Amino acid sequence: MEVILIGFMGSGKSTISKLLGEKLNLEVRDLDQVIVDYENSSIHDIFLTKGEPYFRQLEFEMLQQQADFNGVLATGGGTIINGNCASHVQASDVPVVLLDMSDNAIEDRLGKRAGRPLASSKTTDELIELKHERDGRYHECADFVVKTDYKNPKQVVDEIIEYLK
Ligand code: S3P
Repeated sequence: MEVILIGFMGSGKSTISKLLGEKLNLEVRDLDQVIVDYENSSIHDIFLTKGEPYFRQLEFEMLQQQADFNGVLATGGGTIINGNCASHVQASDVPVVLLDMSDNAIEDRLGKRAGRPLASSKTTDELIELKHERDGRYHECADFVVKTDYKNPKQVVDEIIEYLK
């Protein structure tokens, strides 16, 4: 991999990975999508029918399978919260970029929670609490942090490209 994007749900990993891939002329992969394709089922249905532990194990396996992928990998918001995934990412020499948004941005970004099983049952305050619980791990794993508030996708991508140079 050339770069891994991490960050909380709604932080823009999918949007930014696509734009970054275009600019750098690199293939883009979304780990959630890899899982959806593998299971032939939506994330929502995997959580519902097989449960979160099953999803997390699969997420780790699919992450490991990306070792030979030479592109931009967008992870899920919980990927590196799994200690196995965090260790795997930290042991690799691939740059890890954290898309970091403020608590205030959560309501805007996650207004529509459909399709996100962990977000759909939570209030905004609960989501903020979950983000706080995870923030330490996100920062621990990140080689570079981009603050995304008040920036458009192009600005965020430009900052990442500058860092990768
Ligand atoms: C999750 C985030 C989701 C998806 C799953 C679990 C999480 O990805 O992997 O619903 O634990 O934060 P996005 O961050 O792309 O929504």
